[in-house]
Amino acid sequence: MPNSTTIVTIDGPSGVGKSSVSRRVASELMYTYLDTGAMYRAVALYFHRSGIAVDSEKEISPRLGDIEITLFPAATAEDDVGVVLNAEDVSREVRTPEMSMRASTISALPTVRGFLTEMQRKIAQAGKIVAEGRDMGTIVFPQAGNKFFLEADARERCKRRLLQLRQQGRDEDEEKVLTMIEERDKNDMQRAVAPLKKADDAILINTTALSLPDVVKKILGCIRQAR
Ligand code: DC
Repeated sequence: MPNSTTIVTIDGPSGVGKSSVSRRVASELMYTYLDTGAMYRAVALYFHRSGIAVDSEKEISPRLGDIEITLFPAATAEDDVGVVLNAEDVSREVRTPEMSMRASTISALPTVRGFLTEMQRKIAQAGKIVAEGRDMGTIVFPQAGNKFFLEADARERCKRRLLQLRQQGRDEDEEKVLTMIEERDKNDMQRAVAPLKKADDAILINTTALSLPDVVKKILGCIRQAR
């Protein structure tokens, strides 16, 4: 495992700003940004297209080996990372609200988590990584030297998600997005394996009233102080 001081983990619920914050922190530190949610989304898309139910572990497990996922940096700092699933660019397809829910459901399966955890640890072998997700600080990189957990009110997270969707040209109903956020939080926090949880040694940051640059500044400050 790489030196724990070169692994930064940023966990938290959906819509809390993890991706934007993690991308910027990684860019400031000149580290690799690892969006693990994108990997769960790619797995969800693969099984959706295969017509296999997201909760059917018996059918899913034997086919995990057929999945190859590559992440690539977005063209601009404002965009999500790109996703290649078995040689096809699915960057847009994985970011729909439907795929968010499917990713949340499929992420409860232990074999899926095992498969992606191994992939994530392999990617991090070179160190210098900012890993973003739900279980980065607790399960995937418990040895990480810098752990953060972001939280924010559900209404605020909904507002941010709506803005993000609008930037992608999608106009969604506010109440529907809020319900989906709350449902996803519940799924992600209540699953038996690797639930969304703050690691004991993670620094908690409530981002409700903070701007994106403020959160990034706070995190970089903590990392520099720890060095
Ligand atoms: O971060 P995101 O919204 O792209 O993640 C999509 C779903 O994937 C999320 O609802 C739960 C799952 N996920 C997970 O279980 N563990 C991770 N480390 C990252 C995402």
